[in-house]
Amino acid sequence: MAPHHLITSHRIAAANATIDADARHFSITNTLKLDTRAELDALERSLLAPAASIAPKFFYDVLGSTLYNAIVLTPEYYPTRTEAAIFEQFRDDIAAVIGTGKQFVDLGSGDSVKAEKWFASLRPSRYVAVDISATALTEALSRLAGNADAPELAGLITDFSRVLDVTPVLAPQPSLFFYPGSSIGNFLPDEALWFLKQIRAHCHGHGCGLLIGVDAKKDSARLDAAYDDALGVTAAFNLNALRHVNALLGTDFDVRDWLHRGFYNPALGRIEMHVEARREVNVKVRGHTRRFAAGERIHTENSYKFTPHEFRALLVEAGFEDTRLWQDTRGDFSVFYATA
Ligand code: AVJ
Repeated sequence: MAPHHLITSHRIAAANATIDADARHFSITNTLKLDTRAELDALERSLLAPAASIAPKFFYDVLGSTLYNAIVLTPEYYPTRTEAAIFEQFRDDIAAVIGTGKQFVDLGSGDSVKAEKWFASLRPSRYVAVDISATALTEALSRLAGNADAPELAGLITDFSRVLDVTPVLAPQPSLFFYPGSSIGNFLPDEALWFLKQIRAHCHGHGCGLLIGVDAKKDSARLDAAYDDALGVTAAFNLNALRHVNALLGTDFDVRDWLHRGFYNPALGRIEMHVEARREVNVKVRGHTRRFAAGERIHTENSYKFTPHEFRALLVEAGFEDTRLWQDTRGDFSVFYATA
């Protein structure tokens, strides 16, 4: 690929850019409020709060993203490979229900590899990648642009965890929204409903739909193991959030003072991840010292699990009318296609 494709995330973050590629042109729009100060202030407050927490987005520095890619290879973490197997087994079926020629809107596109597998069967008119990472998005679109068969490409750098607005990059065509991986589970139930309503609000007229992957409730022991694997990859992933916070905020967390906790909370239907102080720990947080008692926890993630019935009800409450469901034979994971 020609060197002019290598645009730094800094430049993309600074301004909207149009990138020439050998086979395709594409534009990247950036609506990510680079309000780092507000983000860091919120992180500070969450650490100083009586019930301390770190938002799950802080898992994903370079090491954290690499550890996540390792988690999906552990035998205990079934969601990613189960979703992939459902997509492989039912791809033609699912594509026949969706129909061809839509604008494919990939929410949390990352490296765009999951989306690209649909191009042959869905023949999208456009591919709109939406991600918080300028680097990942730029690399992914540059890679796709090298393929002469690629659809029209567009990118949007944004944080949709609070507000979803992809209108600046949508063409007036029926959209297929794609939200795989059970990332919907990171939202609290109210937030998940609000997120689905916002997707629904982007649908005008006929042909709009949502293809979404959702992890199912199941035996606690299997859920516990999936988030506390024997090799300790999930533990490293969880504890790495402390290192990332040190880098961002100048705190002095020592990962050796902390234990990984990852377990299913059946009453709330969710996985909870925490880091737990092994002993009393005093951490410098900007001008403050935050004392953690031995055994005190910092909540780092929720991952909600839904029965197919529960998730269908949520889709209906969000305003989707028709829902189709595909599952693996064990019923470990659900793929829904919902239309407005
Ligand atoms: C990326 C949010 C889908 O909740 O299963 C994996 C993240 N955390 N192991 C999940 C995660 C611990 C993952 N999601």
